[in-house]
Amino acid sequence: MTLTKSSVIEVLKGVIYFTKGDNIVDLGMLDELEVAENSIRFRLIFPKLGEASVNIVIGAATKALKDAFGEEVKLEITPIAEKDKGRGPLAGVKHIIAVASGKGGVGKSTVAANLAVALARSGAQVGLVDADIYGPSVPIMFGTENMQPGVYEKEGKPVIVPIEKHGIRLLSIGYFVDTDKPLVWRGPMATSALNQLLSDADWGVLDFLIIDLPPGTGDIQLTLAQSYSVTGAIIVTTPQKVAFADVKRAAHMFQQEKLTIPLIGLIENMAFFTPSDMPEKKYFIFGEGHGQQFADELNIPFLGQIPIEAKIAASGDSGNPIALDENSAVTKAFDLVAKRLRETFQ
Ligand SMILES: Nc1ncnc2c1ncn2[C@@H]1O[C@H](COP(=O)(O)OP(=O)(O)O)[C@@H](O)[C@H]1O
Ligand SMILES: [Mg+2]
Repeated sequence: MTLTKSSVIEVLKGVIYFTKGDNIVDLGMLDELEVAENSIRFRLIFPKLGEASVNIVIGAATKALKDAFGEEVKLEITPIAEKDKGRGPLAGVKHIIAVASGKGGVGKSTVAANLAVALARSGAQVGLVDADIYGPSVPIMFGTENMQPGVYEKEGKPVIVPIEKHGIRLLSIGYFVDTDKPLVWRGPMATSALNQLLSDADWGVLDFLIIDLPPGTGDIQLTLAQSYSVTGAIIVTTPQKVAFADVKRAAHMFQQEKLTIPLIGLIENMAFFTPSDMPEKKYFIFGEGHGQQFADELNIPFLGQIPIEAKIAASGDSGNPIALDENSAVTKAFDLVAKRLRETFQ
């Protein structure tokens, strides 16, 4: 059979959605069908996701299309819940989680990247957006500085295809600009950059899209809160007592009237140091217990402590985030946070 839009539709008319007793085309479930040379992409709109019938229909559609057009035909079938139909390119994303901090240098990017790795290892589909347009770090942390996201055209508009590394879909402003040259971003430029990374990209189906925000309280945070349905924000802090002012500022930004993003909790980074020859020792160099105390005072959950680990800086530069190393104490700390997130948002 020749691969054309109409032949694909003909084939899909043979796929029955038994819950409603008719084929998926006549039920109006087929959406945004695109056919290119040896590839077929479309969305299927279901009343609800997470039901066995969704996988059955996708399996049946896959088999029917491969039978008709050959095993090599590339398929991308994205199930969408009816209620998310209008959410555009982010429709397949279950949870958007922002990682924020009151100031820079606390390890926000380190947390975002390693949390993404830990979530992916736990079996989730994960994307990571580096929205820190002032100091993008995802390209270096994932060893993808020399890569460029693909672009294809859809209805006359360019769509960005995230880069995939370590099983995580990645986008960063760093892939599009020369990061050696300092950039002065004005508000509108910053927000349009964020919109491109989120709305003009093809994120496909994801359980979690993690956003590494710039530090502080600015246009990016505002745009995110106003234009996207963010599941929640994680605030990263270091343990010093004086850091509380920054934590409070970040927390309050998300709790402003009309732009409420729920606070998922607080992560204390660089919480303590354990010498490698004394694995049972914990030295609380910057003070003990402040992370928990900050979380209690703000009445938000305390998600965990990440130790100080010299390898973090090295792994950040090597292109392999430390959470890929299953023996590291840091990895165990991130695995715990990932587990909590999956339990909360499954
Ligand atoms: N737990 C840690 N142990 C050791 N070094 C860390 C840790 N967390 C972050 N760093 C290092 O601190 C620096 C700042 O971290 P980064 O994640 O870039 O912060 P931010 O994104 O908040 O500016 C980086 O060089 C990073 O490698
Ligand atoms: Mg950063």
